[in-house]
Amino acid sequence: MPLLIGVPREIAAGEKRVATVPEVVEKLIKLGFKVAVESGAGDAANFSDDTYRAAGAEIIEGAAKLWAASDIVFKVSVPTTEEVGLLREGGHLIGFIWPAQNPELMQQLAAKKATVLAIDCLPRMLSRAQKMDALTSQAGVAGYRAVIEAANVFGRFFNGQITAAGKVPPAKVFIAGAGVAGLAAIGTAAGLGAIVRANDTRAEVADQVKSLGGEFVKVEYEEEGGGGYAKVMSEGFQQAQRDMYAKQAKEVDIIITTALIPGKPAPKLITAEMVQSMKPGSVIVDMAAERGGNCELTEPGQVVVKHGVTIVGYTDLNSRLARQSSTLYATNLFRLSEELCKTKDGIINVNMDDDAIRGLTVIKDGVVTWPAPAPKLAAAPAKPAAKPAVAPSAHGHGGGGAPASAGKTAAIFGVAALMFLLIGAYAPAAFLGHFTVFVLACFIGYMVVWNVTPALHTPLMSVTNAISSIIAIGALVQIAPPLMLGLDRPDGWIRWLAVAGIALTAVNMFGGFAVTRRMLSMFRK
Ligand code: NAI
Repeated sequence: MPLLIGVPREIAAGEKRVATVPEVVEKLIKLGFKVAVESGAGDAANFSDDTYRAAGAEIIEGAAKLWAASDIVFKVSVPTTEEVGLLREGGHLIGFIWPAQNPELMQQLAAKKATVLAIDCLPRMLSRAQKMDALTSQAGVAGYRAVIEAANVFGRFFNGQITAAGKVPPAKVFIAGAGVAGLAAIGTAAGLGAIVRANDTRAEVADQVKSLGGEFVKVEYEEEGGGGYAKVMSEGFQQAQRDMYAKQAKEVDIIITTALIPGKPAPKLITAEMVQSMKPGSVIVDMAAERGGNCELTEPGQVVVKHGVTIVGYTDLNSRLARQSSTLYATNLFRLSEELCKTKDGIINVNMDDDAIRGLTVIKDGVVTWPAPAPKLAAAPAKPAAKPAVAPSAHGHGGGGAPASAGKTAAIFGVAALMFLLIGAYAPAAFLGHFTVFVLACFIGYMVVWNVTPALHTPLMSVTNAISSIIAIGALVQIAPPLMLGLDRPDGWIRWLAVAGIALTAVNMFGGFAVTRRMLSMFRK
């Protein structure tokens, strides 16, 4: 029997999202499920009962009836005690749970013999899990909305303009923390024409900041232990960061703070003095308000004006863009449903051997299974225990293995030298000329590719593919040697090989340009 997915109306104060949307209802039905939606569940996100009905969902009046009918409940906000009371004994629940912060809720759900999949516990490092990553989809929307909120209370244009009435300078925006929300904010503010700067303790995000049109402002302090993950920084770093933020506060018009270290209170990055030093009319949007705020003067959920600076501390940015947030969230849950129901018959299999599903499952048939062991595949590639002190830091190739040891390099060079010696001694003179060109080409090719960031290898290869097609000229010369070379036209297999060479090169050449064109078009608006 296909299972029934139930979507109740969210009852948390200010929550306007809904766990599924009409277009996703159709997809869930194609997966074999039946879908029921509580009457009015989508109203706050502008999805009427009729649109759900048209998509094939049953509309049920009242939460109690909906919860009682549902085999699986899709929710957004953490369920309240009353909602847990409505959950069917042995039922399934999927939504935000935050088990570390809600131990009592976990007990109540376990007592219901429920199976609970907490979308906030998805192992985010698994690339397969990205399509289900609701934290990312929601943070992206919130980052966008943070800029819109800033624009709403800021008294000027974001972009610079020259009008008949005078020149308007562009707004300067500083983003603290360039994670998911921060990057979305950078892209949005840059898109509106502002001058955008950003900082993060993870210096490796600098390229992403730049690619979205921002400038990465570095803290001039060498932190020990390298980057990779957000962590509490040393006192020396924090002081240097405070100095830099104090300077930025005086210069910029808008600050959007998104700094977060998982499991820790939000770092206080903007002090009361910094707020005081900002120009009157400036704006701070503190996205971390719910976790204590990145700014000392933030009041969670409120908009306050302190020292002439408007500080926005909204904790419901997603609900302020409820339709978009709901659509992305619903898609995340649909992708999860696909993983749970590979048989497409509306029956789910909570497969605890699957790393992604295991990570999400915080309660299985009433047994608390949280926290999940670290996923096998998710572990970040092991870093070499100690980097050699002389490792060239400016080397662009991040993805490759560790640099070869001195002994290994010497061995490779030794073998190569011996080969050259043998070739030099025995090969015919005509071969030597071609061979020298070949070796030099390999060397130059290696040096060029090695020094290009791995992320750019695909576009690089597509262009070099096209360029390498110069070998077509070689094949043409084979088929029809120019008169001045005084060569005979080749017969038989040499000619056919040359023809095949031209055909293959043509694929390489046009394919290379086609791929390059396609990639470039992805960046064009
Ligand atoms: P994330 O973990 O992807 O990004 C946080 C970034 O802050 C990381 O790149 C980290 O390296 C950086 N960071 C940590 N400490 C720092 C420091 N001292 N200085 C500079 N950078 C530092 O998190 P995500 O998903 O981007 O969320 C950002 C914030 O937005 C969180 O606090 C989250 O709770 C909040 N949020 C707020 C919403 C709202 O309605 N107000 C909605 C969604 C998210």
